[in-house]
Amino acid sequence: MSLKVIPSGAALGAEISGVNLTENMDDATFEQIRQAFYRHEVVYFRGLELSDDDHIRFSARMGELRKVKQMRHYTPRRPELMVVSNIVENGKHIGSYDAGMFWHTDGAHSEISPVASLLHAVEVPEKDGRILGDTRFASMTAAYDALPAGMKKRIEKLEALHSLYHRDEQSRQSGNKPAEYNEEEKKKRLEKVHPVVRLHSATGRKCLYVSEGYTVRILGMPDDESRDLLAELTAHCVQPRFVYTHRWMPHDLIMWDDCSTQHKATFDYALPLRRLMYRTTVTRFA
Ligand code: SIN
Repeated sequence: MSLKVIPSGAALGAEISGVNLTENMDDATFEQIRQAFYRHEVVYFRGLELSDDDHIRFSARMGELRKVKQMRHYTPRRPELMVVSNIVENGKHIGSYDAGMFWHTDGAHSEISPVASLLHAVEVPEKDGRILGDTRFASMTAAYDALPAGMKKRIEKLEALHSLYHRDEQSRQSGNKPAEYNEEEKKKRLEKVHPVVRLHSATGRKCLYVSEGYTVRILGMPDDESRDLLAELTAHCVQPRFVYTHRWMPHDLIMWDDCSTQHKATFDYALPLRRLMYRTTVTRFA
């Protein structure tokens, strides 16, 4: 079996085939995957039936994993696995059902910004032979590179506030009931300031870092100016020319870069059509 990297043809994304993620692969093969990931920003493996251990072991080769004990949306069986699902059991959602509702970068509000996420599809919704619930990814390096020189100069030193409350409020306005936070969660910072242009820690490339989901305002300017600039940048960065759309197949594993991309899921399905995915989150590259 030899590894192949097949670019999607979009601004980002590549399929990797010819690797078995249920085995501990050698360093040279893993290095090819890592380099493909840095280059294509989103890489995917088709039709791999991965156990929790396989998913976690492969993710951990990328770096340190976020572990969350006894918190909603995480499986009780493994603290590394977040559940992304529309399934309801005993009257309760078994995972996050609105995770990809808005364009966003995972954990933009967190104290430690994730560097990569790996989502494994266990069940995908299907209707009339078509799989629903696509996920779109946009390249923030391509979006930055395409900005006019004047805009690059204007935003070069700016910072913006990212907030989980902002995301939740939008979800609420769309008719959802996002989580209420307990006292312990409230004590944790659910807001974070980031540069509008971030440097990728591994590639050194410049990435535009504002999103519809999390970015509240750009600091140090009047509200109306911040609103207009944010609207311009968030519309710019998700144009179709910067986007790869992933059409899921059962047991796909997709790994995306949390600095150089953002993503949004498509909510074109509902129960009884079930969608069940598990996500690991890498907080620091190895
Ligand atoms: C996510 O935002 O982590 C989930 C994306 C998806 O459900 O496709």
